[in-house]
Amino acid sequence: MTDAPTDPIAGAEGGQRRFPPSEAFRRNAIAGPELAEAADRDRLAFWAEQARALRWERPFTQVLDWTDAPHASWFADGRLNVAVNCVDRHVVAGNGDRVALHWEGEPGDTRTITYAELLGEVSRAANLLADLGVRAGDRVAVYLPMIPEAVIAMLAIARIGAVHSVVFGGFSAESLRARIDDAGAVLVITADGGWRKGAVAPLKPVVDAALELPGERTVRNVLVVRRGGNDVDWAEERDLWWHEEIAAMDTTHDARAFDAEHPLFILYTSGTTGRPKGILHTSGGYLTQAAFTHRTVFDLHPERDVYWCTADVGWITGHSYVVYGPLANGATQVLYEGTPDSPDPGRWWSIIERYGVTILYTAPTAIRSFMRAGRAIPDAHDLTSLRLLGSVGEPINPEAWLWYREVIGGGRTPVVDTWWQTETGAIMVSPIPGITDAKPGAAQTPIPGIAIAVLDESGRPAPAGGDGLLVVTEPWPSMARTIWNDPERFRETYWSAFPGRYFAGDGARLDEDGDLWLLGRVDDVMNVSGHRLSTAEIESALVAHPAVAEAAVVGATDETTGQAVVAFVILRAAADLADADASPVLRAHVADRIGAIARPARVHVVAELPKTRSGKIMRRLLRDLAEGREVGDTTTLADTGVMRTIESGMRAG
Ligand code: WTA
Repeated sequence: MTDAPTDPIAGAEGGQRRFPPSEAFRRNAIAGPELAEAADRDRLAFWAEQARALRWERPFTQVLDWTDAPHASWFADGRLNVAVNCVDRHVVAGNGDRVALHWEGEPGDTRTITYAELLGEVSRAANLLADLGVRAGDRVAVYLPMIPEAVIAMLAIARIGAVHSVVFGGFSAESLRARIDDAGAVLVITADGGWRKGAVAPLKPVVDAALELPGERTVRNVLVVRRGGNDVDWAEERDLWWHEEIAAMDTTHDARAFDAEHPLFILYTSGTTGRPKGILHTSGGYLTQAAFTHRTVFDLHPERDVYWCTADVGWITGHSYVVYGPLANGATQVLYEGTPDSPDPGRWWSIIERYGVTILYTAPTAIRSFMRAGRAIPDAHDLTSLRLLGSVGEPINPEAWLWYREVIGGGRTPVVDTWWQTETGAIMVSPIPGITDAKPGAAQTPIPGIAIAVLDESGRPAPAGGDGLLVVTEPWPSMARTIWNDPERFRETYWSAFPGRYFAGDGARLDEDGDLWLLGRVDDVMNVSGHRLSTAEIESALVAHPAVAEAAVVGATDETTGQAVVAFVILRAAADLADADASPVLRAHVADRIGAIARPARVHVVAELPKTRSGKIMRRLLRDLAEGREVGDTTTLADTGVMRTIESGMRAG
């Protein structure tokens, strides 16, 4: 970093400062150095011990079977029920009166749900699903806002051994339909709408539109939670109100156990091609690592902590650290429906103050936007209940890390920067708060039981301090088992670059202390506000517009969102679209096709795109332009004059 720091907190030391845990934190921390020692001694025995913290209806005798690599089996002869582990177990242990969810809607309405009440709700929903003919192994799509029913639905689906595919509520009808068809979902659980930025964002109409598109006809019913109160159309044979159906159901449900490798969920994520990948996770190993990491990385004391992860259940962070990890651990948590700035920019801090939140887990993009808005907003609230802060989704720059600790954490709290992915299922790299001396900006250390390496392209360890590729060298319990409907793509994407080892798609560096720094994606995946987007997926949406002949998309560095989507398009000669109108029209078109999260920040109309002699678009050069940098090496271009043409066109436009 050569620029003078703009924030006084950053100081001259930037990322070089160290923050050891306080003596008091260390003394009360649930994890000590013995954890890593045990894992180093015998990795598989260590994971078996973590798995035994769950309730198994039939204990496992096998730990890992890797003979069918890269398709792993963990704890394969054991049987358990994931929902029983997340709910019933705590009631049986006498903690039924503990609050599971402090839910707050965006308009300010609230619901408090204890573990005993959650058991009743999940049981009713499980009975309803069974009544609707949903069987073990069937897929159910969930398209809901952040309301308790989202958690209840996921647990009810898991309870009967069905497989959920949660689709983030910001995705378009077309994206939703592609996911429904790929998974062959028999049921969609949605809401009329949910509150966002002071208004109701409709969801049921999107489901209706999705199901009207041509394609498979696997969906038998649409179950609709009433939340927004907005008007909705009704297909008599197909649509059912959740509240009407659930009222008739019994609040007890006898759960059966399933194999540890029984599928739990599919979650679609963006890859390097246009088609999203359905990442498949299974039961025993996934829950083991989600629960273990949630306990140790967040130093969870379930009897007194109030935990809040701000992620939506539509993303993996919401699966592992809103639903499965915290509930498996019997945590009390906050669930909030809306946006951080509704009705005012202090909403999050007011939630923390009112519920006495002790552990906060959020994304750097949110932290940076709070930084920009200024510390006066959080300073107006009492945040002294906080004792631990977490970060996830993208690299956190040292300035944001220091601000987070100082302004939100009052200069006292450990900050854990957690690296992981949809595919890894749970946290893989993170400081352990009672042990690690934290280093701002670095994710630092693999968690106990995880083996990481930074390699160069030939598979040799990158030199200390040098950039390389992040690789996981040993299988882990919560690893993705495959890509739904496409095992070959699973092997090819993750296991072919370094045979036998998992290639994450991230660049990384080990510093002289052996601490790990993440450097961002090395493939055509962008990271916008902590959300994964594929350049290819947005390009194919753009070229689907009749006015567009060619398109190239890059992720340009953005101060708040990490990266921003910037598109370069060539319009068709006969296009019925003036250059000046192209940007708003095409931005709206992408939002419509994929969802608002994919809407480009900028669309530049150009006459040509930079291509190599073999016709490959050189996105690196477009990124230089988008970031306002001097354009790099152009010698491999088929036509070296093309960059000048594009640049002068951009200036004119
Ligand atoms: C990025 C989100 C740096 C990374 C849990 C990864 C991070 C992708 C971090 C996965 C972090 C996530 N530091 N980069 N702490 N956490 N990433 O599947 O590029 O939505 O490959 O999972 O986010 O995104 P996904």
